[in-house]
Amino acid sequence: MKYISPSILASDMLNLGKEIEKVEKSGAKMVHIDIMDGSFVPNISFGMPVISAVRKCTDLILDVHAMIVSPNKYIEEFIKCGADIVTFHLEALDDKTTVESINLVKSLGKKVGISIKPKTPASAVLPYVEMIDMVLVMTVEPGFGGQKFMHETMPKVKEIREYANSIGKDLDIEVDGGINDETIKIASDAGANVFVLGTAFFKSEKPLSANEIIAKTN
Ligand code: DX5
Ligand code: ZN
Repeated sequence: MKYISPSILASDMLNLGKEIEKVEKSGAKMVHIDIMDGSFVPNISFGMPVISAVRKCTDLILDVHAMIVSPNKYIEEFIKCGADIVTFHLEALDDKTTVESINLVKSLGKKVGISIKPKTPASAVLPYVEMIDMVLVMTVEPGFGGQKFMHETMPKVKEIREYANSIGKDLDIEVDGGINDETIKIASDAGANVFVLGTAFFKSEKPLSANEIIAKTN
């Protein structure tokens, strides 16, 4: 299945409730929530109160992307606030803590994703693929919306998809950064099936439905 996950980083924060309604009306099933700490990435976005606020106004799947140091310390809190999928960065944790974090999210009954930055090779995440629900391949350097899609990340998507297929794993592969009408097809062809759209969703002059956006992958 293919999904879009609109990123509220590009939304009108003053009218977040209305923006979430827009996501629901589009027919999207997920909302992407970018947590940034100004340390793992050079930008600060928002945290727990925003996850809770979104949770209060929708039953959509809350796709929380933690771009923070020590994400393991906040997993329980993210889930308490309403996260359905918790994705943290491989670069932020050592091997032991990564495994503990995966197990913690799973023990709390939620889905777990691992994200890799553009310079991190696919091989770094492959050892975890069997244990997790999703790999998020960053298609820009994390930290800011509105950046240009990095085509050179596509071989990694392909490699991860091929590996998942080879072990019979039904893995979600999410791409995040610079996804629009054109790049969505490139990412889909490489093997991605979850597409984060920030600017292209919330700042579009002629908003499309989720189905119309997904149709661009064909
Ligand atoms: C970037 C964030 C993205 C961002 C994408 O670090 O992880 O989710 O909101 O925004 P666009 O779609 O504008 O590139
Ligand atoms: Zn994100």
